[in-house]
Amino acid sequence: MTRATTVLSAAALCAVAFVATPALAADGAAVYNANCAMCHVPGLANAPKMGDKAAWAPRVALGRDALLASAIKGKGAMPPKAGNPKLTDAELGAALDHMLAAVK
Ligand code: HEC
Repeated sequence: MTRATTVLSAAALCAVAFVATPALAADGAAVYNANCAMCHVPGLANAPKMGDKAAWAPRVALGRDALLASAIKGKGAMPPKAGNPKLTDAELGAALDHMLAAVK
């Protein structure tokens, strides 16, 4: 019983830590790695590749607000909120800033 309780509490702690992490502060690199990299590293479905200045130039010209709106609402083959409805606008913005910093 004691052992089972210990295991259960450990599991509960892990669950809390897992859920709490993204809510603390929007960590752009972490949000990007977990939600954006799978498409934006390989350029899946013609996604502009991470760090590819030429591919990003015409998008950067649209302005950060327009790009954030695309990330929130989706664009072409990119689903709204990168397919993760739990992401907040702030987290999407942080991931976007992380991507934009790579093409400055
Ligand atoms: C399922 C694959 C996929 C995922 C996941 C994904 N993207 Fe995209 N993204 C795309 C594709 C494809 C495009 C090109 C869309 C187009 O122009 O038709 C794109 C375009 C964009 C653009 C340019 C939008 C514009 O208005 O030109 C931004 C900004 C962007 N993605 C940000 C993100 C961010 C931030 C994340 C993670 C939170 C993310 N993407 C996750 C596939 C993805």
